[in-house]
Amino acid sequence: MSRRTFLAAVSAAASAPTLGAAHPPVLAVDGGKPVRSTPLTTNYEGANFIGIEEKKELDEAVATRSLFRFYGFVPPKKARTFEEEFQQFMDVKYALGVTSGTSALHVAVNALGVGPGDEVILPAETWHSDYNVIIMTGALPVFCEIDESFALDPDDLARKITSHTKVVIPSHLSGTVADMNRIMAVAREHNLKVLEDSAEAIGAIYKGRRTGSIGDIGIYSFQTAKMMTSGEGGCVITNDPALYERAIRFHDLGGVRPIFRTVLGITDYPRGGSGTEGDRGGETTLGLNYRMNEETGAVLCAQVRKMETALANHRRMHRYVTEKIEHLPGFHLRPSNDAEGDIGLSLNLLLPTRELRDRFIKAMTAENVPMDVGILGTRNLPTMGYIEDKVVPHPNWPSFNSPRGKAMQYGAACCPRSIDLKNRYASLYLGPKWTNADLDDVVAAVTKVHDALLT
Ligand SMILES: Cc1ncc(COP(=O)(O)O)c(C=O)c1O
Repeated sequence: MSRRTFLAAVSAAASAPTLGAAHPPVLAVDGGKPVRSTPLTTNYEGANFIGIEEKKELDEAVATRSLFRFYGFVPPKKARTFEEEFQQFMDVKYALGVTSGTSALHVAVNALGVGPGDEVILPAETWHSDYNVIIMTGALPVFCEIDESFALDPDDLARKITSHTKVVIPSHLSGTVADMNRIMAVAREHNLKVLEDSAEAIGAIYKGRRTGSIGDIGIYSFQTAKMMTSGEGGCVITNDPALYERAIRFHDLGGVRPIFRTVLGITDYPRGGSGTEGDRGGETTLGLNYRMNEETGAVLCAQVRKMETALANHRRMHRYVTEKIEHLPGFHLRPSNDAEGDIGLSLNLLLPTRELRDRFIKAMTAENVPMDVGILGTRNLPTMGYIEDKVVPHPNWPSFNSPRGKAMQYGAACCPRSIDLKNRYASLYLGPKWTNADLDDVVAAVTKVHDALLT
């Protein structure tokens, strides 16, 4: 090679695009090598931690052959022990175990005295149990927009209040917290009760308090995808003895068993039978049967003892990823109303447009780090068919029979902002057992796709 040819070759090499900044690696979706060779799979939260502790608790319960929580061959104690430990964990006065998050909501709206003629405000994005239980009381559901934190927007809440509004239901979705200070301020100003749906945020903290313990009453779900689980199960918490007593009655055919009378300090019952644990006693009102059984209580005893470790792990994983990607321009991370208190269940990226969001998800999935649209575990309720159609259990059902109920229209027009946000969010649930190498893959994939699509 002559000197001239050599110099020309060096100069060409120097000006040739290098891999990296100028030429980002080819996306897997365009035929490049994916960040991972196998898909990263997300799995269920609390269910990951079911182990010998749950088995031991369960074995103890089964050995008694006394699986009904109030009486048996020996005095059963698992459901009650769970309630006591959960109320300590939540730092509240009362916790009542029930059969599911949905039944907890049903109990809570009844404890709050919601009924025909009342309006209840709920976020347009949450789980449909919130809506269904309002209908089941005969009240009218009123939707409120969410904000970028994907929780009820306090400004829109203020706009949706009428003289009929009785209760507002903020939801803490996928482990993050709603703006409770502002929500409580609006609610108190208008004399509304606050029912916190914390089904998806067990253990989250807002300004030093556990979610669910800030409003008048809170609920949790222990369904299999939740932070702690017994397959199915739920809990109602409150600091208000009157609400607790109403919750107890509604969940147990209208009565208050001796175990709860002791908690409430009630000694005087006008009606009631034998005074034993089998005696529901004081059956002065209507109620259903949403009682927790001993098997559920047993599993939850073991699960609640693992919560601090599970929460710390999730928060660590979330920080690990977000610290490495938060500087990237082009999208932003879901803003938090209390970043320290969020559980960090999922990574949520807000993209500028729906089209970019869809391309982002497709590219991430090809990199074997699959993302989902919106925020997992929520529904846009006003656009669900049966809600848009105002389906009720009976033609004379009171929910939509008032003039305001008749005029109420759901569908996309009642929550454009919530729909827009949902259409621009991409989410990734962080598996509680992912390794740092898995988390590094998440960072690598997000960075790679970001660099290719958003710069
Ligand atoms: C926000 C929210 N509320 C309520 C519920 C209802 O809980 P369950 O499934 O235990 O009835 C869920 C469950 O997925 C939920 O995500």
